[in-house]
Amino acid sequence: MTLEKEILELKEQKDAVILAHYYVSPEVQAIADFVGDSFYLSKKAVSLKARTLVFCGVSFMGESAKILNPEKTVLMPDATADCAMARMADAKAVAALKAQHKDAAVVCYINSTAALKCLSDVCVTSANAVKIVKALPQKEIIFIPDKNLGHFVAAQVPDKHFIYNDGYCPVHEKMAAREIEALKQAHPEANVLVHPECNAAVLKLADYIGSTSGIIHYATVHDDPAFIIGTEEGVRYQLSQENPQKTFYFPKTTPVCRDMKLVTLKKIKQVLETGQNEVQVSLDIQKQAKAPLQKMLALSK
Ligand code: 13P
Ligand code: SF4
Repeated sequence: MTLEKEILELKEQKDAVILAHYYVSPEVQAIADFVGDSFYLSKKAVSLKARTLVFCGVSFMGESAKILNPEKTVLMPDATADCAMARMADAKAVAALKAQHKDAAVVCYINSTAALKCLSDVCVTSANAVKIVKALPQKEIIFIPDKNLGHFVAAQVPDKHFIYNDGYCPVHEKMAAREIEALKQAHPEANVLVHPECNAAVLKLADYIGSTSGIIHYATVHDDPAFIIGTEEGVRYQLSQENPQKTFYFPKTTPVCRDMKLVTLKKIKQVLETGQNEVQVSLDIQKQAKAPLQKMLALSK
């Protein structure tokens, strides 16, 4: 029996559903029941009936799914798959900022630890951050942990004052603007679609800035034959599935999130068989971190 077939059988036996982010490897995306961006996956996680969720992504995703669904078993194929940005805000420093700016809202990118979510008024993803910040009554925003997403949102909500944190995604931060420029020169007809986690020099070159699902949607609904893509290379699978006739150019230094690539079919089978790597979140943290996540779901409707 193939590994794929074994996983399908185990899924039925264990009443499990597989959720996968666009950055995991193609073979994992191919066997997943649902593939999407962080926002889609957290929305999906609350609507599913299955008792077990296998989360093919990094730890903040599994943790958020558990916090939103405490009665479900959430399994991570690789317990060490983590997002480097998630810990790039210091909880003590955030608490101090909150004390100094009592009227400010703490807006927390979902790519963060549960401990940071506990200090926050609302969570956002790259797909809904602008809409949510606009909807908040507060005029002052403490945005954690991503400085690049923070600046991108601030530019679109000029009536609010932002206080930034110095976090970033290493994969998007180190993307070289000169490599995007080289692609533009070689393919002047191609629109540049980038993720808001990219550094400011890359964002300046973009025709469109959006979440992974936003990028895939843009490339799918526009008739152009080619696009330059500024995000992690895992999106190539879905882009090509939906647009087999179009060409997608990525920067020469391929943007790869090593943690996302830790998820393999073998590990999915193993956690389904053994129940290993179950996500654990203390009741106290669950209680505090649930409110900002639920507020995100409510405000983005
Ligand atoms: P999305 O919000 O597009 O899913 O992006 C998540 C992420 O980790 C980007 O690096
Ligand atoms: Fe985190 Fe960057 Fe990987 Fe996304 S690509 S999960 S932000 S390290």
